Amino acid sequence: MADALLELRGVRIGMRERRRQREIVRGVDLAVAVGEKLGIVGESGSGKTLTALSVLGLLPSPPLRLLAGRITYDGRLLNELDDKALAAVRGAEIAMVYQDPMTSLNPLLRIRTQITETLRAHGADRAEAAERTRQVLGQVGLADPERVERAFPHELSGGMLQRVMIAMALAGSPRVLIADEPTTALDVTIQQQILELVEDLQVRTGMAVVWVTHDLGVVARLVDRVAVMYAGRVVEEAATADLFARPSHPYTAALLGSLPQTSTGHRDRLTQIGGTPPDPTRLAAGCPFRWRCPYAFDRCTEEEPPLLERGSSRAACWKEPAAWAR
Ligand SMILES: Nc1ncnc2c1ncn2[C@@H]1O[C@H](COP(=O)(O)OP(=O)(O)OP(=O)(O)O)[C@@H](O)[C@H]1O
Ligand code: SF4
Ligand SMILES: [Mg+2]
Repeated sequence: MADALLELRGVRIGMRERRRQREIVRGVDLAVAVGEKLGIVGESGSGKTLTALSVLGLLPSPPLRLLAGRITYDGRLLNELDDKALAAVRGAEIAMVYQDPMTSLNPLLRIRTQITETLRAHGADRAEAAERTRQVLGQVGLADPERVERAFPHELSGGMLQRVMIAMALAGSPRVLIADEPTTALDVTIQQQILELVEDLQVRTGMAVVWVTHDLGVVARLVDRVAVMYAGRVVEEAATADLFARPSHPYTAALLGSLPQTSTGHRDRLTQIGGTPPDPTRLAAGCPFRWRCPYAFDRCTEEEPPLLERGSSRAACWKEPAAWAR
């Protein structure tokens, strides 16, 4: 994509074991344009978090590492930057919100200290950092931002911590926010509030958002485009409206089928489609979805399909949707 702000090409993540290479993420291409909202959806273990972590060089290494691929941000090849240069990109250009707030919060430091220290590391003076901290905590809908500023993480609820994490991520005015399932640990009402908050901040700041989630229902409202991951690869990519109207991969169709018809209250988890996802490091030849696919035929056991053009979408399936009924 020519106008991509952030682009992943052929990203492979895994480990080298003796002479063997075990791949978990098996060649992912993604692109995010300025101000665009991209959703990455898939079941547990499909490689969403590892893909997201690879962007900022945060893979749990060892044992995992980027085995191949290029990650480009604004014309710079991130995966060849040294730690210092990557730290400068982190937060100031690309920020990440994790599923578990304690991944990025220090339990021993007041919230104010944590945010100001991050800002000072990116060059703000003491007064600027204090002012910006107050400002971002004021923007994330906390009832009493002054109290939160002085609090330690354990004094705050899960929903408040998520808001603090979002404030921290926003502090450096990033152009890309990667949000990895920031709502799964929270109850439905608070989840909804956090989603609305990020939506509102995206509109106000114009930042691009990469939203990683299990929940296709979340994605429907929040993003322009969706990449569906299965067993370490993107199996379908489409504009959100097209994906919902005309899924081109049987897995996407199954995910849509597992969503409740009404948008009220509880949503099913994607894991409720029949069967379990395969271990991406132990795949046999052929399409990795074939054991769960109602449309599998001979070719599916022999050859793994690449992403093929399907109207306005791209899908890794040998069968066109028109042939699914046959
Ligand atoms: N530190 C690690 N060491 C070894 N294997 C790992 C490590 N982290 C993840 N994996 C493997 O990589 C696979 C993909 O992990 P990843 O966290 O990217 O999945 P995910 O799609 O984000 O799943 P979830 O929806 O549960 O968060 C996991 O199934 C796991 O087997
Ligand atoms: S390639 Fe075959 S097994 Fe795989 S999703 Fe398509 S029809 Fe199903
Ligand atoms: Mg994950």
